[in-house]
Amino acid sequence: MFTDLKKQPADKILQLMQMFREDPRTDKIDLGVGIYKDASGNTPVMRAIKAAEKQLWEEETTKKYTGLAGEPAYQDAMVDLVLADSVERNQVAAAATPGGTGAIRQAVELIKMASPDATIWLSDPTWPNHPSIIKYVGLNMAEYRYFDNATCGVDFDGMMADLAAVKSGDVVLLHGCCHNPTGANLNPAQWQTVVDHLGKVGAIPFIDIAYQGFGDGLDVDAAAVRLVASSLPETIIAASCSKNFGIYRERTGVLMTVSQSSDKTPLNQSTLAFLNRQNFSFPPDHGARLVTMILNDEALKADWMAELEEVRLGMLKLREMLAAELQRLSGSDRFGFLAQHRGMFSRLGATPEQVETLRVKHGIYMIGDSRMNIAGLNEATIPVLAKAIIEVGI
Ligand code: LMR
Repeated sequence: MFTDLKKQPADKILQLMQMFREDPRTDKIDLGVGIYKDASGNTPVMRAIKAAEKQLWEEETTKKYTGLAGEPAYQDAMVDLVLADSVERNQVAAAATPGGTGAIRQAVELIKMASPDATIWLSDPTWPNHPSIIKYVGLNMAEYRYFDNATCGVDFDGMMADLAAVKSGDVVLLHGCCHNPTGANLNPAQWQTVVDHLGKVGAIPFIDIAYQGFGDGLDVDAAAVRLVASSLPETIIAASCSKNFGIYRERTGVLMTVSQSSDKTPLNQSTLAFLNRQNFSFPPDHGARLVTMILNDEALKADWMAELEEVRLGMLKLREMLAAELQRLSGSDRFGFLAQHRGMFSRLGATPEQVETLRVKHGIYMIGDSRMNIAGLNEATIPVLAKAIIEVGI
């Protein structure tokens, strides 16, 4: 049977990661995969995670199975972090998942189970693994315009024009904050317009929030998901702790459903547990436990928030420096969007050929659609990147 296997398309983010590793140049710059890096290029374990791990090592007495949907304390802590008091706790079903990707996969399985004919609407562009998972699970997909190549901002008119075709029962996937890959985000008034429209047509929002705390702060970044969850009858949320807790390899995520009527919650909760059981049984616990310890301990939480804020402000500073350097070199404001974008990524608006030249000639690695990871930069590499951007004619 193995001889019948067909080679699957490579994930372009992971492929680029491999190419970067294999490039022998010592002055190469990695702006590819979405991993936070400090000024020395390291992805440190956050202080609060280290402290919680130490405490856990001392206190943990067993490694027996946890709950099928993870520990209730983890579910509670994550519901609170993402939704705060926008909805009642008894409106939310939550299950721990292997990372944010695991939450997305489980969400797509949930949609397939509840409504196999629904179409899932994706922003064009979106994180490439979104369509890949949906296709693999076998659901219908459609795209809505999102990015304006000319301004490198949101094409809101195009988005709303495309969302006019959404039907009752369709699912619309939205990035809660820090849009990946563009860095361009809806403003609060635009979110309200989207919510009103989805409510009018009877579509279900599915929010992927993988960068809470990387944009404008923990609460501001969750404002959209809170607005959606409190306004519409049903919401699906996939959240990740990979980035904001820096625990990429621990695979820590959560899938939540929110229903306006709390009598739906027990069925939702048991369905999420069932889906976990079918796919991997019990979710990974280590990262979830650390997150729970941090969120439930005042001192650890304060330290985590302080470090996350340092990370966020560091990325903002890099954005501003790059925009300023490009303004200086180009003599124009056309790169001002870099300082307006939020999160780890910005789409530069370069052609695939220009991206290729940056890689081949300058050793600068970004995704083919010109998404760059801002956290891959530092004060020394900003002038190098800016010069190369101008040189390749972007
Ligand atoms: C990214 O978009 O680079 C990250 O979310 C990492 C990944 O798994 O693709």
